[in-house]
Amino acid sequence: LRDRQPIIAIDGPAGAGKSTVARQVAAKLGLVYLDTGSMYRAVTWLVLQKGIAIDDECAIAELTSKCKIELTPNQDLQSSVRVWIDGIDVTQAIRTIEVTSQVSAIAAQSYVRQALVKQQQNWGKKGGLVAEGRDIGTHVFPDAEVKIFLTASVSERARRRQEDFNKQGQPEISLEQLERDIAERDWKDSTRKVSPLQKAADAVEVQTDGLNISEVTAQIVNYYQQRLSQ
Ligand code: DC
Repeated sequence: LRDRQPIIAIDGPAGAGKSTVARQVAAKLGLVYLDTGSMYRAVTWLVLQKGIAIDDECAIAELTSKCKIELTPNQDLQSSVRVWIDGIDVTQAIRTIEVTSQVSAIAAQSYVRQALVKQQQNWGKKGGLVAEGRDIGTHVFPDAEVKIFLTASVSERARRRQEDFNKQGQPEISLEQLERDIAERDWKDSTRKVSPLQKAADAVEVQTDGLNISEVTAQIVNYYQQRLSQ
């Protein structure tokens, strides 16, 4: 018997719907939702805010070792989270195009990864969470009870992203441009030296083209219940 509650690890490329699905799975099962991408984004925001060069690994390592990241429940958006760095609420600020375009470079730096993974593992000591990212099943929680690798084709992910932008009233970006951005981010995330995006050997791949959020959520919840009753 384990001395902690179960953990669900959800990994996969950008735009596969991981955050929404992970949030809903957590809400359904009464588990805590851990968005690890928001932590890499928060560090990126701080680096940009301090005017530190993106490739100044030393200065960024120093900054990361001193900063304090907190994730708190969001009262406005049900079961979503607020992200804080050094006491500043960066929930919205970490979603800008500027942060999004620089975060891959920060997430590729080994010191940053080491520090953030350690914090994620500390938070996960008691289990009872749905953690979402790129290296959760492979590095952060290799002993997670359930590992999901969530994917969707590049064209499907571009279409979803365009829909999101439209809903947010953001200026229209062409599907071709979005496909190019997504393919580039996939390439960066899966070819970097430290902890590249990889499907864990014991992860179940869920291909979400043509499925809606509740269908994907139900699949994962079923799989979790099956696994835990074994
Ligand atoms: O999931 P997201 O788009 O918020 O992730 C932001 C960036 O952080 C993305 O470039 C991948 C990286 N990331 C990572 O390297 N490892 C994680 N566990 C989570 C995110």
